[in-house]
Amino acid sequence: MVSVTPSLNGSRPPATSTLPPLQIGKYTARVPIVQGGMGVRISGANLAGAVANAGGIGIISAVGLGFNSPYFDAQTRKGDFFEANRLALIDELTKARSISPDGIIGVNIMVAARDFDTLAKTAAEHGANLIVAGAGLPMTLPSLTQDYPDVALAPIVSSTRAAKLIYRKWKRQGRVPDAFIVENPRTAGGHLGASAEELNDEKLDTEYVVPELVEYIKTDLNEDIPVISAGGVWDRSDIDRFFRLGASGVQMGTRFITTQECDADVRYKEAHLKARPEDVVLVPSPVGLPGRAIANDFARRAIEGTLPQRQRCVANCLKACKCREKGETYCILQALDNASRGNLENGLIFSGSNAGRATALVSVADLVAELTRPLDCEEARR
Ligand SMILES: Cc1cc2nc3c(=O)[nH]c(=O)nc-3n(C[C@H](O)[C@H](O)[C@H](O)COP(=O)(O)O)c2cc1C
Repeated sequence: MVSVTPSLNGSRPPATSTLPPLQIGKYTARVPIVQGGMGVRISGANLAGAVANAGGIGIISAVGLGFNSPYFDAQTRKGDFFEANRLALIDELTKARSISPDGIIGVNIMVAARDFDTLAKTAAEHGANLIVAGAGLPMTLPSLTQDYPDVALAPIVSSTRAAKLIYRKWKRQGRVPDAFIVENPRTAGGHLGASAEELNDEKLDTEYVVPELVEYIKTDLNEDIPVISAGGVWDRSDIDRFFRLGASGVQMGTRFITTQECDADVRYKEAHLKARPEDVVLVPSPVGLPGRAIANDFARRAIEGTLPQRQRCVANCLKACKCREKGETYCILQALDNASRGNLENGLIFSGSNAGRATALVSVADLVAELTRPLDCEEARR
C-alpha cells in the first residue's frame, strides 16, 4: 500500500458521524454516493431512478442503449444504430425522471464512442442533471453543452495529470469541471484507464491520487471542485476512508449490480452473487485497454484468444476498435449486450474487484440505508 497523506481537510467528519451532502454544480445530493454508469443496460432508468430516490446520484449508462431497443433490429442490424442510441437515451431519461421526478439523474457517456457528441447534447437537452464522461479525455464537453449551463459536468480521470489537462482545456472554454471522478483501474469494473502492465503501479490507486488531486485543486488552482473516489468502494468503512483522504463523495458500481432495481437480467446478478474474489479477471478488449470481469467461459476464451476469429462488427460503435479494424478480439457491444440480457455463455460479465462479496439481492433503499448508517465505534475500529 502506498503511503497516503492523512486527512487533507480538517473539517471532514470522523468515521462515525453522518455523511455530508455532495454538491455538484447546482445540485446537492443528500447522500454523497454516485452510482457508476454501467453499460450495456446494467444501469438504466430503473437503477438510476431508484438511486436518485434514495438521495444519491443515479447514472444511466448511454453506451449501446440503441442496440436492444425498438429503434434497431439487433438480429438483422437493420436501422440507424446511432439514431437508435439517441432515441433510446431519450426514452431512458424520460423513464428515470418518471421514477424520480425530483432526484438527481445523470448520464455516463464514453468519449471513445463515435456518437459521444450527439449523446452529450441529447442528455443535456432531455433533462440530465449531470453528464459523466470517461474512457478518454472529454475536451469538448463544455462547448457541446454550452446551451445548458445548469447541466453539471464531471470527467472521469485516473491521474492528477489527466485532471490538469482537462481543467486547462475547459477553462479556455469558460468552464471548470463541477467534479472530478477519480477511478482506480486496480479495482474498478468495466474498461480500465490503464494497460495491464501499468496496473502494477500503486500510484494509480485512488488512495494516492485522491489526496494528490484534492491538494492540487485547493493549492494550485484555488478552486472548490469536489473529488469523487471510484473503484473498490464496498461498505461504509471504505466510504469513510475516502472521505478522510479528502474525497467529497464516492462512485460505486459493482455493489449496485446485486440490487433488485439493477436493469440487468437476473442471471447477470446471480453470476455476481456466485462469484468468488479469485474469479475476477482482466480481459483484453477491442478498445485496446483491459476490462475487469467475472471469469466465465467467454472471458476465458477472450484471454486465451480462442474466440471465433473475425467476429462481425455489429454497429461501428467505437472510434477505435480492434474487432472492426483488424478482426481481432471480439465485438464488445455484442458481448456486453448478451451478458446483460442473461446470455452469459456468449457474454462478458463486467465487474469490479469486489464481485462475490454480495450475499443477496437487496433493494437500493436498503443498500443506501446500510451505507449511510453511521458505524458504531467497534465497527469503525475494524
Ligand atoms: C458492469 C459494469 C459496467 C460498467 N460500464 C461503464 C461505462 O459504461 N462507463 C463508465 O465510465 N464506467 C463503467 N463502469 C465503471 C463504473 O461506472 C464504476 O466507476 C466502477 O465500477 C467503480 O468500481 P466498483 O465497481 O468497484 O464500485 C462499469 C462497471 C461495471 C461493473
